[in-house]
Amino acid sequence: MVIERLKEKKKRVFLRVDFNVKFKGDKILDDFRIKTAKRTIDYLSKYNHKIILATHLGNPKRRISKLSTKKLIPFLEKILKKRINFVDDCIGEKVKEKIKRLNFGGILLLENLRFYKEEKKNSEDFAKKLKELADYYVSEAFSVCHRKHSSVYALPKIMKNYYGFRLKDEIKVLSKVLNSCKKPIILVLGGAKISTKVPLIEFWKKRSSAILLGGVLAIVFLKVKGFNVGRFLVDKEFLLSARKLQSKIILPIDFYAISKNKKIYLTLSDLLKQNNSSFKILDIGEKTLDFYQKILKVGEIIVWNGPMGLIEDKRFSFGSIEMAKIIKKLNKFSVVGGGETLSIFSSKSIEKNSKIFYSTGGGAMLEFLTSKKLPGLKVLGL
Ligand code: 3PG
Repeated sequence: MVIERLKEKKKRVFLRVDFNVKFKGDKILDDFRIKTAKRTIDYLSKYNHKIILATHLGNPKRRISKLSTKKLIPFLEKILKKRINFVDDCIGEKVKEKIKRLNFGGILLLENLRFYKEEKKNSEDFAKKLKELADYYVSEAFSVCHRKHSSVYALPKIMKNYYGFRLKDEIKVLSKVLNSCKKPIILVLGGAKISTKVPLIEFWKKRSSAILLGGVLAIVFLKVKGFNVGRFLVDKEFLLSARKLQSKIILPIDFYAISKNKKIYLTLSDLLKQNNSSFKILDIGEKTLDFYQKILKVGEIIVWNGPMGLIEDKRFSFGSIEMAKIIKKLNKFSVVGGGETLSIFSSKSIEKNSKIFYSTGGGAMLEFLTSKKLPGLKVLGL
């Protein structure tokens, strides 16, 4: 049920969020996930609930201070405009005591859920211990709903559960994409995580009008077509998948690469020459962007996940930044997702009047768009 159905006041609410944000030094690279949870947090405060805020951060194998959720406090206080209390654990008497002393309407941030290996194992015992902390469970963590983890699956299974406003919007918008197969949909896919994109291409190759590729994903497909893609390592398994998935795939026609520490420009015909493989392709070029823009113009819906090049290196962020500009300018119903892809858009609107929906989900968005039932949604009755 949506959170608005929780009419009671002054309860203890376990709010599972996904504040798994990337840091550069002491700064958060993109705080969009935090901003999108604000509406639900404000709602719970308004009803004077004690908010027990829980998230994972990174993928720790053990307790490490670098991945303590304590790091999030100054950012949360700034964005949420509320004091954040903190406890350096997730379960047990110390946590219960802190909750007892927490003011109604106040927030207690728990330590990183993944400091407990039980979390990723979907442990029922761990879930039972978390359950002791609260009366109700609320999920505002769409982006981790593809993981069958204790706080995402086992816990809501044994508690009266609700979902937040943002999670509701994610489902609404992504379902609209899934249900629009008859319309011209164009997918733009890039990035390096090939394994997460292969099922999406498999699903959409018959349903979309075109799939435009960039990033490492494009290089895999160029390689199976016999082009010389320079220095490049990929699992054989992905090459086999790419060989089977050629239809609807559109590939870049020019590139920026690095060779002997210098940025160089290459066209598709340069990749036909097999004599030199010392370069490494790191971005798409202007001609590709023109070509892709023409195709995007005929689409009614655009879905973008994964950068077109190596965005962390300024010399190779051009293709991704230009792609973001193209999508903004086209002003069509578009869904953009994935941490890196979102970070390319310097200003993101949470408002409904924007035609671009910025999904908080990376892997979760991709899995949802293959029509897969995500465990963290199924357990909420979605
Ligand atoms: C994400 O950032 O996509 C989610 O927080 C899930 O993180 P994970 O891929 O480490 O499970």
